[in-house]
Formats: sequence, structure tokens, C-alpha cells
Amino acid sequence: MTDQQLLSFLEELLGLGITSFDHADIYGDYECEDIFGRALAMNPRLREKMELISKCGINLKSSKFPERKVKYYDYSYPYIVSSAEQSLKNLRTDYLDLLLLHRPSPFFDPEEVARAFDTLKSEGKVLNFGVSNFSPEQFELLNSFCDQPLATNQVEISPYCLEHFENGNIDFFLKKKIKPMAWSPLGGGQILNPVNEKGQRLLAELNSITKEIGATSVDQTIFAWLLKHPASILPVLGTSRIDRVKTALKSTKLEMNIEQWFRIYIASTGENLP
Ligand SMILES: NC(=O)c1ccc[n+]([C@@H]2O[C@H](COP(=O)([O-])OP(=O)(O)OC[C@H]3O[C@@H](n4cnc5c(N)ncnc54)[C@H](OP(=O)(O)O)[C@@H]3O)[C@@H](O)[C@H]2O)c1
Repeated sequence: MTDQQLLSFLEELLGLGITSFDHADIYGDYECEDIFGRALAMNPRLREKMELISKCGINLKSSKFPERKVKYYDYSYPYIVSSAEQSLKNLRTDYLDLLLLHRPSPFFDPEEVARAFDTLKSEGKVLNFGVSNFSPEQFELLNSFCDQPLATNQVEISPYCLEHFENGNIDFFLKKKIKPMAWSPLGGGQILNPVNEKGQRLLAELNSITKEIGATSVDQTIFAWLLKHPASILPVLGTSRIDRVKTALKSTKLEMNIEQWFRIYIASTGENLP
């Protein structure tokens, strides 16, 4: 997209009530935030109508950092603060609504992370903090060091990826009343273009249920499946097509019964329930 096309896309999304934008320092090999920021700079008054989310912690192997020999994670105080400040510059904004730690790390000092959060919060640079891809234990650990409760955990949830229904994370979200953000809600598009037997089985069931509930497309059925769950799952859409966003929005009006919800779950696992 040109900057103007991206600006028009943002204006249209805001008009539809889509106001939260999910970024990370590393997206597009460190370039996506800047592209978004350039478009936003063309109409800065849009900023107050939106919530900007970014992430930090992953150090990619990239031609932009030729000295790096491996991908690694950094959650040191100076790194978190400087990464958030760089995101602000890139996005042409004074504050982030939400900063997430992108992935859990085997080298992690929760006290130091909490200090970085305190600094960013007290300077008005970040309003809320959260994590991504954390287990309940990792979430609790960091939460216990933070003055302000962590806002969310962004994890992969889709009919294809049921991991967090099985590893205790969804139960944990319900217990803590945390709304999880679901990345790759369409399995990165793979549910619609299956590459294996599991995918084909799942798509066949999704097609049947799409007809039964009067959805116009399978992606709508997938969003209805996510939204039906009591954990208040917030899907993070990965499309830049406005027609697909409009289709997704209509899923909020669809009714799916509990048996249909389980038929999708079972088509994914390939096993009947005990
Ligand atoms: N925290 C993390 O670790 C993490 C990891 C991965 C992603 N994320 C976040 O989650 C967001 C969404 O992830 P995602 O991009 O994997 O989401 P997704 O919505 O599961 O997949 C998006 C892909 O599906 C395609 N698609 C959408 N509707 C389709 C349809 N009806 N038919 C065929 N293909 C269709 C899109 O193509 P078109 O572009 O052509 O519509 C796009 O390639 C990312 O943008 C990122 O912000 C976070």
C-alpha cells in the first residue's frame, strides 16, 4: 500500500469501529511500524481514535543488525525502554496504549521488567502492559512484580490451534477475567487453504456449519466460533482487505449452538470426546 492507501484503509477501519492496531518492533523486518507511522502522520487526529499496541523483546537476525549471530530475546531494562521509545518514534505517537513482551524467555528477570514498565508508565509513554505466548505460570510470575496488573496475553487461538484450551491458559484467563488476544485466528489463512488431512477435515466441517448458521463464508464461521467462547477472545485479524474485515464484523451477529462449536473442535482434534 502507498501511504495514502494505508491512511484511507485506517480511516475506513475506524469508521467501522475497528480501533485497535497490533504492531511489533520486528514486523516486516522492523519496517511495519514506520510505514504505519507515515500514514498516521498524514492525519494525526486519527491517533486519539485508536489504540496502538506494540511488542518488544525479540532480537531478529536481520541485515539491519549484521553483527547478530542468532535470534535471541532481551528483556533488560535498557532494552525494553529503548525498544518502546523506538516504537513511539516509528509510529509517530507520544504513547502506546499497550506494550506486550513478545515471547517468554529462558533469561528473564521479572523485577527488572517491572522497573522498565514503571519508568515507561510514569513517563506517560505506555498506558498498559501485557505479554504474548506466556504460560499461566509465566504470566503470574511477572504479574506479581508489577504495580499495575498485566492487561492481556496474546496467544495463538483458532479452530486449527487448540493448544491453549489444553494447556490451562484459557482456564487461567477465565479465572483472572483476562481477555486474551488471539493471533492467527484463521491459522494464518491456512484453515481456508488446507495443506494436510487435519486441515481438510476441519474445513469440511466448517463448510457444513457455515451453511447451517447462515454465514456467508468460512472465515465468518471461524470468528463466530472464537466469539462464542466465554473467555471473551479478541481475534487479531491479519488481513489488509477491507471486504474481509467487513465479513469478519458480521460474525458478531451469528448464532452458533454448542454442538456446532464442539463439531469444529472435534474436527480439529480428530478424536471424539471421552
Ligand atoms: N504475538 C505473536 O506471537 C503473533 C504471532 C503471529 C501474528 N501475530 C499478530 O496476529 C495478527 C494476525 O495473524 P495472522 O496474520 O496470522 O492472522 P490470520 O487472520 O489468521 O491470517 C491472515 C491471512 O489469512 C488470509 N485470509 C484472510 N481471510 C481469508 C479468506 N477468506 N480466504 C483466504 N485467505 C484469507 C489473509 O490474506 P489477505 O491478506 O489476502 O486477506 C492473510 O494472509 C498479525 O498481523 C500480528 O499482528 C502475533
